[in-house]
Amino acid sequence: MNPIPAVEAIPSGIVSLADHEQHARGRLDDNAWAYFAGGAGDEITLRANRAAWDDIRLSTRVLRRLAGGHTRVQLLGRTLAHPVLLAPVAFQRLAHADGEIASAYAAAMQGAGLVLSSQSSLPLEQVAQAALGEATRGPLWFQLYFQHDRDFTRELVQRAERAGYEALVVTVDASSSGARDRERRAGFRLPAGISAVNLQGLPPAAPIALAAHQSRMFDGLLAHAPDWSDIEWLRSVTGLPVILKGITHPEDARIAVAAGAAAIIVSNHGGRTLDTMPATAALLPRVRSAVGAGYPVLVDGGIRRGTDVLKAIALGANAVLVGRPYVFGLANAGAMGVSHVLRLLRDELEIAMALCGCATLAEAGPDILFS
Ligand code: GLV
Repeated sequence: MNPIPAVEAIPSGIVSLADHEQHARGRLDDNAWAYFAGGAGDEITLRANRAAWDDIRLSTRVLRRLAGGHTRVQLLGRTLAHPVLLAPVAFQRLAHADGEIASAYAAAMQGAGLVLSSQSSLPLEQVAQAALGEATRGPLWFQLYFQHDRDFTRELVQRAERAGYEALVVTVDASSSGARDRERRAGFRLPAGISAVNLQGLPPAAPIALAAHQSRMFDGLLAHAPDWSDIEWLRSVTGLPVILKGITHPEDARIAVAAGAAAIIVSNHGGRTLDTMPATAALLPRVRSAVGAGYPVLVDGGIRRGTDVLKAIALGANAVLVGRPYVFGLANAGAMGVSHVLRLLRDELEIAMALCGCATLAEAGPDILFS
């Protein structure tokens, strides 16, 4: 069993996720800040994600009976206390020495689902232990990047299964990393002692000798990139539900359902891959109508307020994920900071539901959106 992460005080004056972000700027060095806060290219999508939630207006309803209401949702056969999960974020020990263990512990205490990055800076077994013992915990999922070595990928999946992870979240929108100007300007590099520890032992990819007319992208990197047949392969080697993260096109959403994905996550990777993609708030309704009602759809990107969570549900999401905000909470106060971020979102969501006249999230349909 891991030690419970140290209890740290929330710095005074922090009452919102934006406050956490501002405070975290002073806690993180330029290297870590560029990695966590930055996006791809001109960061148009990074800003668009935020702006899109801000631009949606909520309608209020009054004098309804709301006693006995709650924020619970059903997802993949489980009842969650609320619809907020922690998105996979790599190398969390860049933000705090307790890293992913603190995030897992806080998520469990707050009933939030946790998606552990395959680029976690702590062993996946230790992170699972921090969450699994807590009765209040939400779902525990493992994010998977297909590695160039199939055997290694299969062994990683089996390790995650043995450790108690309950679903695999395959990130499908990053066959290439985005053009991360901020990271390049800051000369981002992982400090000594922080690495993707769960990927240790990955045999190096066999070098591909490129002819002069060949492309490093298409003939090099993409020679190892997964395609739909790898999703089929993954389903053949695991009994865990497979969730696809980074689906934005309605046609891809339909293919994902046909390929047996248990759920999809509408995501533009927090604006970190293809700059100028639309905001996820704009993409979500199209994906929802492609897959129809009843199929689990999650969304991430720019969610910073309980009102944003409610808007996402009204646009058709079953649940949402947050990434950067909890890393900023982690930087500010370790597990307590992550817990505070989640508590703020939960409290704000309840306020928004009450004022929109929704006793449950099933009542938060498109009619609460002003148009
Ligand atoms: C990894 O997925 C990243 O966005 O840095």
